[in-house]
Amino acid sequence: MATKATPQDRQAALAALAWLVESGADEAIEAEPLDRLARSAKPETARLPETAPRQDERPRRQNAPPPRAGAEPPPVWQATSRELRTHEANLAAAEQAARSAGTLEALEAAIRNFDGCDLKLTAKNTVVARGEPQAKIMLIGEAPGRDEDLQGQPFVGAAGQLLDTMLRAAGFDPARDVYITNMLFWRPPGNRTPQQQELQLCLPFTERHIELVAPRYLLFLGGTSAKALLAETRGITRLRGQWLAYQHAGLPAPLPAMPLFHPAYLLRQPAQKRLAWRDLLAFRTTVEANLDPLHKG
Ligand code: URA
Repeated sequence: MATKATPQDRQAALAALAWLVESGADEAIEAEPLDRLARSAKPETARLPETAPRQDERPRRQNAPPPRAGAEPPPVWQATSRELRTHEANLAAAEQAARSAGTLEALEAAIRNFDGCDLKLTAKNTVVARGEPQAKIMLIGEAPGRDEDLQGQPFVGAAGQLLDTMLRAAGFDPARDVYITNMLFWRPPGNRTPQQQELQLCLPFTERHIELVAPRYLLFLGGTSAKALLAETRGITRLRGQWLAYQHAGLPAPLPAMPLFHPAYLLRQPAQKRLAWRDLLAFRTTVEANLDPLHKG
């Protein structure tokens, strides 16, 4: 017979979880990698590991309340073949709409007209981008939050203010020197963690977005964009500050990309600003010198 957790057990478990989160141990609680290529035929009832993280493996948002110690894990989510077919059809529609957009304006219209992502049903606004579309630097975050949803612009809340302050301090004008977007164009209800199938549905638009903006450098704000666009399994604590290559068939050459801690994480963990600042300065040094960090010259 299972023994019941005492209040002390619960407190100890909560403290251990809080410690893990504070030490940035996102990898320990990370979901399966996003497999962007796994779109082949599926059996009648299939788990959706490529499109939906299992409920018991979902990475917990760092400010979310910890799970109750001793609670039963939720059942593994199973996609029915119908859900799977709907998802595949929505994905095909997203790919087709993104591919057909020949300009940024057309892409924005295609995103606004896309009805395949259910987040649109609960969001107040579609949030696409802000900044200078001709900029050499493109920043990609995770998803709009409450303020962004209300104002229809990315990174305009507290995290956005911190981002702008950091950019200015590093010598960049947020209105002229950068172009900012997110992986998702609609706010997940209550700012919950984006689900893999939502990320998959928006990915074709972001890939096309990068092609059309054609920046020289990418900055990924947080692990969600870094992992989705680099098809990475490592967490942000491992990826931050490194020059990596973003490759996509539509690009003439791989783009140098650096992941940074997400500004919202920095608001919760101000001690990590030191590392983020160091990364941003390293980024600036390369951009200023106009070096290609992938080719060291
Ligand atoms: N966090 C993000 O990732 N994007 C926003 O636009 C706001 C907060």
